[in-house]
Amino acid sequence: MPAFERTELNSARLHLRPLAATDAQSLFTVYSDPAVMRYWSSPPWTAMSEAEAHIAEELAGLAAGTGLALGIERTSDHQLIGTCQYHLFHEQSRRAEIGYGLAKSAWGQGFMHEALTMLIRHGFTALGLNRIEADIDPRNLSSARCLERLGFAKEGLLRERWIVAGEVSDSRLYGLLRRDWLAALGGQQ
Ligand SMILES: CC(C)(COP(=O)(O)OP(=O)(O)OC[C@H]1O[C@@H](n2cnc3c(N)ncnc32)[C@H](O)[C@@H]1OP(=O)(O)O)[C@@H](O)C(=O)NCCC(=O)NCCS
Repeated sequence: MPAFERTELNSARLHLRPLAATDAQSLFTVYSDPAVMRYWSSPPWTAMSEAEAHIAEELAGLAAGTGLALGIERTSDHQLIGTCQYHLFHEQSRRAEIGYGLAKSAWGQGFMHEALTMLIRHGFTALGLNRIEADIDPRNLSSARCLERLGFAKEGLLRERWIVAGEVSDSRLYGLLRRDWLAALGGQQ
C-alpha cells in the first residue's frame, strides 16, 4: 500500500486529513458519547488518555501503511466532527474494511455520505482496492442506511460476533465492489 501520511481529501463541506495530537479533545468529545458508541465494538471512552492513545495508534498505522484513518473536519468552522478510516487491508485481495463515526450534533445532515463518498473514491482509485467491506451491528439502522445509500450490498450475518461490556451482538456484513461502484457512476470516476 502507498504511504498514507499525506492523504487529504476535500468536498463542498468537508476536509478529510490525518489526525493530529491537537485533535484529542475533539475526538474525545465524539467517542466518549454513549449515543455515538451504542453499536461500536468497544465501550465509550472515559479518559482523555484513550483519545491520545488512539491518535498515536492511528498515526503509527498511517506511517506503516496498515491503516488510513482521517479526521473529518467541517470547513465552515474547522471543527473536527468525526473520523473515517480503512483498516484490515488485505493487499493480495485488494480489499479493506471501512469504519466511521460522527459527533451526534452532526448526524442527519449528509456529512458521512459526503465523507465516505470521498474515501470510497480514494480507495478504488488511488489505493487500487477491488472490494470495500463494512461490519455493522444489524440494529444500527442509520449506519445501514448510510452504507446502502452509498451502494453497499448486504451480504451476510455473523451471529454473536462481538461482546462489548458484556453485551453480545451480531455482525451484518456489507460489501462494495469496484465494478459495482463504476457501474453506478456510469463509468465515470
Ligand atoms: C452512522 C452515522 C455515521 C451516519 O451519519 P450521517 O451523517 O447522519 O449519515 P448520512 O451522511 O448518510 O446522512 C444521512 C441523513 O442525513 C439526511 N440529510 C440531510 N441533509 C443531507 C444532505 N445534504 N445529503 C445527504 N443526506 C442528508 C438524510 O435524509 C439522512 O437522514 P436519515 O438517516 O434519517 O435517513 C452516524 O449516525 C454515526 O456516527 N453513528 C454513530 C457511530 C456509528 O454507529 N458508526 C458506524 C459504526 S459501524
